[in-house]
Amino acid sequence: QTSEKGHFEWSAPSNIALVKYWGKKDNQIPANPSVSLTLNNCKTITSLSYTKKENTGNGFSFDLLFEGQPKEDFKPKIQKFFERIVVYLPFLKEYHFSIATQNTFPHSSGIASSASGMAALAMNLMALERVLNPEMTDSYFFQKASFLARLGSGSACRSIQGNVVVWGQHAGIAGSSDLFGVPYPNPLHEVFTDFQDTILLVDKGEKQVSSTVGHELMHGHPYADRRFVQAHENLAALIPVFESGNLEEFIKIVESEALTLHGMMMTSMPYFILMKPNTLEIINRIWKFRNATGTPVCFTLDAGANVHVLYPQKVKESVMFFIKNELIDFCQNSQYLCDEIGSGAVAL
Ligand code: PMV
Repeated sequence: QTSEKGHFEWSAPSNIALVKYWGKKDNQIPANPSVSLTLNNCKTITSLSYTKKENTGNGFSFDLLFEGQPKEDFKPKIQKFFERIVVYLPFLKEYHFSIATQNTFPHSSGIASSASGMAALAMNLMALERVLNPEMTDSYFFQKASFLARLGSGSACRSIQGNVVVWGQHAGIAGSSDLFGVPYPNPLHEVFTDFQDTILLVDKGEKQVSSTVGHELMHGHPYADRRFVQAHENLAALIPVFESGNLEEFIKIVESEALTLHGMMMTSMPYFILMKPNTLEIINRIWKFRNATGTPVCFTLDAGANVHVLYPQKVKESVMFFIKNELIDFCQNSQYLCDEIGSGAVAL
C-alpha cells in the first residue's frame, strides 16, 4: 500500500444489543447507553481500492459493488457518510474509491446490515488513514474506527471490537463514551464468553420502521425520559450479573429490554407493532421450555419480528433440539441462522 494507491479488505460482524439504543440526540449521540454482544458469523466483508486523484475536486468519487453488482441505491448512504466524516478524514476528497461489499447472511433476511456494513467500511478507511499516519496506536485506530462507524449508523460503533461492547457514557463503566464503543472493561464471567445467538427468521420483509424514523419517535414520546433512566439502571444491574454469571437475573434484564423496545414503538405517535403472531408464539414457547426444563435460554428482539435466542454453549445441544423441534415451524421457510459471540472486525 502506498499513499498513491492500494487495496484493503476487512470483515466486520453484526451485533445484538442486550440494553437497547433507541433514541438519539444530534450528531448520532445516543439518548442512553447500550451494551451488545458482538456476533461472529453474520458479517459484512468489504474491500476498498483507492487511487489518488489527479485533480482534487470538491466532491467525493467512488463506485460501489454489492455482491458483485453495481448498487445505485446504496450510493446516497455512502455519500452522506462521507459528508459526515470528511472533517475527521480530510483525505477523502483526494482519492477515488472502489468499494465492493457482501454479507455472509442472506440479503433481505430482516437482519440489518447497517451495523456490520458501516463498521467494515470504517475499518477500511482507517486502514488508509494508518498508511498516511503510520505512527498511530492500535487503541487510537480502533477508537476512531468506532467513532466513524457511529456516524454511519449508531449501533455500528459496537461492531468494531468484541466480545461485549458498551456505547454511551455510564457511571459504572470506566472509559465509556457517547462517541464510540468500548470493549466491556469490568469482570466478565466465563459463561458469557461462549454465548450463542440463534436468529429465528420470522419475517424477512422490508422493515416497517427504519431505525432513523424509530429514533425520531422518541422525541416527544410520553415515556422517553423514564426509558432513558431505565436503560442506565439496567446497565448498572448487568454489571454484577456479568461478573457472577447469574443467568436468571441476566434473562430478566435482557427480555425486559427487548419488550421495552417494542413497548416504546407501540406507545409512540405514530405507533407500530413490529412483532408478528409467530414472534409471540416463539416467545411463549421459550418461556414454557425454560419453565419446564430450567434451561437458561432467553430471547431478545431488534426493531423487527425476528427472534434472537440467547444461551450459553453448554446447553446448545438441548436448545438446538428444542429449536428444531418446536420453533422452526414459526420461522419463514423454516429459516434460522446460528451465530455466537465474536471478537470484532478483522483484516482479510
Ligand atoms: O444503529 P441504528 O440507528 O440502526 O439503531 C439500532 C437500534 C436497535 O437495533 C433497535 C437497538 C440497538 O441498540 O442495536
